[in-house]
Amino acid sequence: MTRLLRIDSSSRTQGSHSRDLADFFEQVWHQKYPTHEITTRDVTQPAIPHIDEITIAGFQTPPDQRTDAMKASVALSDTLISELKQADILLISTPMYNFSIPSALKAWVDQIVRAGQTFAMDENGFSGLLTTEKAFVVSAYGAGGYHHDGPFAALNFVEPYLQGLLSFLGVQEIHHFAAEGMMDTPEAQSLVIEKVQSQIQAAIG
Ligand SMILES: Cc1cc2nc3c(=O)[nH]c(=O)nc-3n(C[C@H](O)[C@H](O)[C@H](O)COP(=O)(O)O)c2cc1C
Repeated sequence: MTRLLRIDSSSRTQGSHSRDLADFFEQVWHQKYPTHEITTRDVTQPAIPHIDEITIAGFQTPPDQRTDAMKASVALSDTLISELKQADILLISTPMYNFSIPSALKAWVDQIVRAGQTFAMDENGFSGLLTTEKAFVVSAYGAGGYHHDGPFAALNFVEPYLQGLLSFLGVQEIHHFAAEGMMDTPEAQSLVIEKVQSQIQAAIG
C-alpha cells in the first residue's frame, strides 16, 4: 500500500490558497492513484508544541533510561516520525509568513528531525534516514518576485529551507509549486492559481 502524507500549515482554514492548492493536488493524485492511502496532519490544529528542555533531554536519553516526563514529552515526536516514516510520498502545503515558513510548520520540523531516527551522524558525516520517494511542496506568497531571480529572491526562506531540509533527511526528489502574488487583485490571483494547477497536473501526469 502506497501512502501519501499531507502536511498543512496555514493558520487559515478558510480562504487558504496553500490548502486549496493541496486539495487540488490531492484530487488529481487520487484520480491517478485511487488505491493510494492519503492521510493529513494539520500542524495548526491541534497545535504542535515547541520542543522544550525536557523534550531535548528525552531525545538525548536512551529510551530505557528516560524518566516518565521525558517519555511523555518525546511521545508526540515519536508519533509524528512514525507518520512520516510510513509515507512514501509527502505533500507539504505552506504559506510564506515573514519570509519563511509558519512557526507551526517549524514546530513540526523540530519534532521530526532527530538523530538516529530521521538522520544519522557518524565519522563519514550526516545521512538522511527517510525513504520517502518524493516530496511535493505547495506554497503561497502574498507578494511576487521570490522566484526566478526576482527582487525578493534573497528573502525566500521557504523553498530553499524546505529543499535543504528534505534532502538532508534523505528525500531524493522534491518538487515545488509556488503561488506568488496572493495579495494581488482577484483576477491576477486566479491567473496564478490556474498556472500552478496546471503545473501540478503536469507533474502528476
Ligand atoms: C503573518 C503573515 C505574514 C506574512 N508574511 C508575508 C511575507 O513575508 N511575504 C509575503 O509575500 N507574504 C506574506 N504574507 C502573505 C501570505 O503569504 C499570503 O497571504 C498567503 O496566501 C498565505 O497563505 P494561505 O493563503 O495558505 O493562508 C503573510 C501573511 C501573514 C498572515
